[in-house]
Amino acid sequence: MTQTRRILVTSALPYINGVKHLGNLAGSMLPADVYARVMRLKGHDVTYICATDEHGTPAELAAQAAGQTVQQYCDEQYEIQRKAGEGFLLSYDWFGRTSRPANHKLTQHFAQMLEQNGLIASQTSKQVYAVDDGRFLPDRYVEGTCPHCGFEKARGDQCDNCGRLLDPVDLKNPYSAVTGSRNIEIRDTEHLYLQQTGMQETIRAWVNEKGVNWPSLAVSIANKWLDEGLIARSITRDLSWGVKVMSADGTPRPGFENKVFYVWFDAPIGYISATQEWAEATGNDWEKLWRRDKGADQTEYVQFMGKDNVAFHTVSFPVTLLGSGEPWKTVDKLKAFNWVTWYGGKFSTSNKRGVFMDTALSLLPADYWRWYLIANAPEGSDAAFTWEGFQAAVNSDLANVLGNFVNRITKYCASKFDGKVPEAGEPGEAEAWMANELATRLKAIDEYYEAMEFRKAAAETRALWAAGNEYLTKAEPWVKYKSDVDGAAVGVRAGINLAAVFAIIAQPIIPDAATKVLDALGIPKGNRRWPDWQDNGLLDAIPRGAPITPPDVLFQKIEDTQVAEWTERFGGG
Ligand code: MF3
Ligand code: ZN
Repeated sequence: MTQTRRILVTSALPYINGVKHLGNLAGSMLPADVYARVMRLKGHDVTYICATDEHGTPAELAAQAAGQTVQQYCDEQYEIQRKAGEGFLLSYDWFGRTSRPANHKLTQHFAQMLEQNGLIASQTSKQVYAVDDGRFLPDRYVEGTCPHCGFEKARGDQCDNCGRLLDPVDLKNPYSAVTGSRNIEIRDTEHLYLQQTGMQETIRAWVNEKGVNWPSLAVSIANKWLDEGLIARSITRDLSWGVKVMSADGTPRPGFENKVFYVWFDAPIGYISATQEWAEATGNDWEKLWRRDKGADQTEYVQFMGKDNVAFHTVSFPVTLLGSGEPWKTVDKLKAFNWVTWYGGKFSTSNKRGVFMDTALSLLPADYWRWYLIANAPEGSDAAFTWEGFQAAVNSDLANVLGNFVNRITKYCASKFDGKVPEAGEPGEAEAWMANELATRLKAIDEYYEAMEFRKAAAETRALWAAGNEYLTKAEPWVKYKSDVDGAAVGVRAGINLAAVFAIIAQPIIPDAATKVLDALGIPKGNRRWPDWQDNGLLDAIPRGAPITPPDVLFQKIEDTQVAEWTERFGGG
């Protein structure tokens, strides 16, 4: 028995503004879920935490467009995202919200500690002020003409035409994105700045130490930021929805009554506050996961995210954690993904391009999407979703390779062996071949999951299923049955046991189908743990004579007519 590890898993917190598409799912939440499930099956002590990221201008503007208060909007969208996660079988131990009190409190705490350590300073800067709206216009609240390319609807923080990052005060002919008012002035305003410069050496040392366990892409992103030199970063905004800025005595900070912390300051703190919510609700201990003085040095912390989030997780958030001077846990292993594209382009609701999480589930069960997205995880590069690829993965891997195997062997066992695991016969050459396949491939699958190589883990899983079909071709129980019933019995016994192993290792990716198979085979819940590749008794693990029933059809093939219909509805090549 290997030692039990304590593992904290987080996936980047999805923005509250709208249901996530398949690419968002594939680039953080889904692989995090698969990883959490593998580690749980191996008997480790896993806590998987996620939450909605609810502050910032996108939430406020989306609420306004929906004609709702931000609170109403977020409440509704949170429910939608929670349900979509449930529908996709994401096994969060907790799905929290950054707008909850725990996150407000902890964000204020971090700000206070950073200020005490001389890492926060108030500075005056020039900002766009809308006189008729009576407010400053941060980031996307102001639009105007791009000073670089002349595009007339550039957003304050970025031009969608030329892609350049902008400072809102540089826009020409600025107007309020809220009311359209062009009565704009540039006024002085005060903001809090995180003095990251002072943390440069600390972060560098930390990246050198921790980065040995990260993929090289993450290390190079962090180093690029460090090489350019960390600069003071404004961590407040002129908004009303968000975490209020307080003085040390807990009263509103003078001059900051109409400001809140910047969303990227409070969002990652949400990992901790959501863990606190979980602990509070379930009677668990959050400190052993997050406080190094309370045992968190014995916790492995694994983060999942899209590549655009890497700098925030390897530099900005660590500045907050380490800058506090308190013994907070920082990330150990980090997995970053490229994009899933829609036929090489962007997902877009307005242009009818791509499938979003809620719609996907109205077309097909979660397992189908989960399998495709993990088998085609955007690991080495971007990965394009195509209906044709999806159809091929479902029809061949799931229906033909796995589904067919389980179907053939269980039906045969039911018809010729009275639906009981056969007792007679001695293993021979075919079984020795299969035992060897099992040992090698299970070991490889194990290693791929440890290394968080999801595509390879899925490919190896499929290869093992395919080896099962090959085994049946070698063992030929249906041929042997005519002359040698005992010889056939060995093949059926091994086949039923293989079906069990195949389903056990499929649980992390296709949990519903795997459960169907394991239920049909009568495998008790306690015996569904991850198999040990060194155990050469795997072909004879289910008690002989145990009753089994063939499961219902596991996977429906995707028809060409469906592909045509969905291409029409959601776009295609
Ligand atoms: N909401 C961000 C995004 O979707 C991710 C936030 S991750 C966190 O890109 F750590 F800040 F929470
Ligand atoms: Zn531009």
